[in-house]
Amino acid sequence: MNATVRVELDERSYDVRIGTGLLAESGEWISPLLTRSRVWIVTEENVGPLHLSSLKEGLARQDIQSDTLVLPAGERSKSWSELGRTVEWLLEQKVERRDVVIALGGGVIGDLVGFAAAILRRGIRFVQVPTSLLAQVDSSVGGKTGINSPFGKNLIGAFHQPSLVLADIEVLTSLPERDFLAGYGEVVKYGLLGDADFFEWLEIKGPDIARGDVSLRAEAVRRSVQMKADIVARDEHEFGDRALLNLGHTFCHALEAATGFSDRLLHGEGVAIGCALAFELSSRLGLCAQEDPSRVRAHLKSMGMKTDLSDIPGDLPDADGLLTLMAQDKKVLNGQLRFVLAKAIGTTFVSSDVPPEVILSVLNDALAARRV
Ligand code: GLY
Repeated sequence: MNATVRVELDERSYDVRIGTGLLAESGEWISPLLTRSRVWIVTEENVGPLHLSSLKEGLARQDIQSDTLVLPAGERSKSWSELGRTVEWLLEQKVERRDVVIALGGGVIGDLVGFAAAILRRGIRFVQVPTSLLAQVDSSVGGKTGINSPFGKNLIGAFHQPSLVLADIEVLTSLPERDFLAGYGEVVKYGLLGDADFFEWLEIKGPDIARGDVSLRAEAVRRSVQMKADIVARDEHEFGDRALLNLGHTFCHALEAATGFSDRLLHGEGVAIGCALAFELSSRLGLCAQEDPSRVRAHLKSMGMKTDLSDIPGDLPDADGLLTLMAQDKKVLNGQLRFVLAKAIGTTFVSSDVPPEVILSVLNDALAARRV
């Protein structure tokens, strides 16, 4: 069941190991990277009690000594102050240029620690040990690191690839169902953006994946990571194909901003709703079959996921308000909104040429359905 996906980036290539027992084997996987038998782990207060001891024991089995910094949980940690605290702690610990830091946690920890590693002594190596499904299939792979600004999410950061990713499927067992399904939104995204067979496989296997079948979960993570690795190898810095990974994200970012980046809408939930809206938009533009958006929505609904704007609790801005929020997206280029559109399930492309009136009609109908 255990698999390895290689991210091919010349001298910065690395493996993503996917499977079970990886925390216990962490020392074996990490020791080839080390020049001395010592590592530094950064985690957060929710993940630490669940997985830190397994990781440390796995390292100790190879006589690797480890010290740990535990940060507060949540998106707020992607800040200058927690970044400063992390970097200063690593300096205080006398971490050297050739040492390795381990990020144990979800996307917040991975992004923050990756950025700390990028700037510490002009760049040290780091290993991602992602503990959420979203981090395993998306944020731990591909080298996007960073923190948030009052002006928006992920606006300060660097591309800095990890040296290794250990995606232990067993840690997903400890995820609350809502977090698991939010991560599954990113998994569905991969099928929709580039692999119709994968989407069809998810339609069949999705319920067993949600119920906890470990080998199906490993296969879903492997296929997602393989697709991301292939895209990142072609376009590391997002000048081209990598933008396809943003399917659903233009809508998602507006909805996240409208809900104040709060628990009302998790990022992966916004991605799922955004994918459904991107297919609706594509259908209205005559690009894909009318059945495609219904099929996307049917799968999300059958998984018990947030699918429509009506699934978001509380008030939302009107269509004009949502369009204004979209215009603040960091992916706006020369003032033009950019969307990933679909010709079919599994066939997508990037467009800066979507008439605002069609976007407004999609949003108005989605908001009207909310009021019924
Ligand atoms: N999460 C999208 C990317 O890594 O490009």
